[in-house]
Amino acid sequence: APSIIIAPSILAADFARLAEAARAVEGAADWLHVDVMDNHFVPNLTIGLPVVTSLRRATPIPFDVHLMIEDPERWAPGYAEAGAYNVTFHAEATGDPVALAKTLRAAGSKAGLAIDRDTDVTPYLELLPHFDTLLIMTIKAGFGGQKFLPETLDKVRAARRHIDAGHLELRLEVDGGIAADTIAAAAEAGADAFVAGTAVYGAADPAEAIRKLRALGSA
Ligand code: DX5
Ligand code: ZN
Repeated sequence: APSIIIAPSILAADFARLAEAARAVEGAADWLHVDVMDNHFVPNLTIGLPVVTSLRRATPIPFDVHLMIEDPERWAPGYAEAGAYNVTFHAEATGDPVALAKTLRAAGSKAGLAIDRDTDVTPYLELLPHFDTLLIMTIKAGFGGQKFLPETLDKVRAARRHIDAGHLELRLEVDGGIAADTIAAAAEAGADAFVAGTAVYGAADPAEAIRKLRALGSA
């Protein structure tokens, strides 16, 4: 596995040209980050299962699906069945994260747990053996293009200590405001997977932007 993961978020791409957006980062990106929002868990609406199912056929890049939705028990397994590599749901949206992680793994995907800006990570650390990814939001979930919040890195540091102490096999992912001027701080705090929307799809050359982020996040 690569030492760090760069996952461009198609939230910052042209939604009428998603297949082209995926192809623009093939060979440069490790995962394609797909933000699913339901206008209930967050006050914004994006795409759902039919679009993800169609897009899956258009590119070989592993999909990192980030579900910002209520009732993930109802929807998350469908994304695993649609061929997502990793399916991440929010800790705030479910009462039994471990049960859903087991369902996802049985359905054929990796399982990810997401922690929003205002949620403490501490109560969830003991659940991490059931997960493949821990996503710490470095903004408040809901919109791309927001400013990175450095205070969220305390949670990244705490999670990194716990993961290393327990020798857990887990990706520690950050999402929100990750760009050339913030990725090094997140890496130093212990993140090893980086979502970047605006910093990749807002760039003239998305593949080159990914290479630059990878260099800055690996230093
Ligand atoms: C926001 C999404 C992010 C978003 C990040 O809730 O989860 O994945 O696309 O966008 P940037 O990189 O622009 O902050
Ligand atoms: Zn996301």
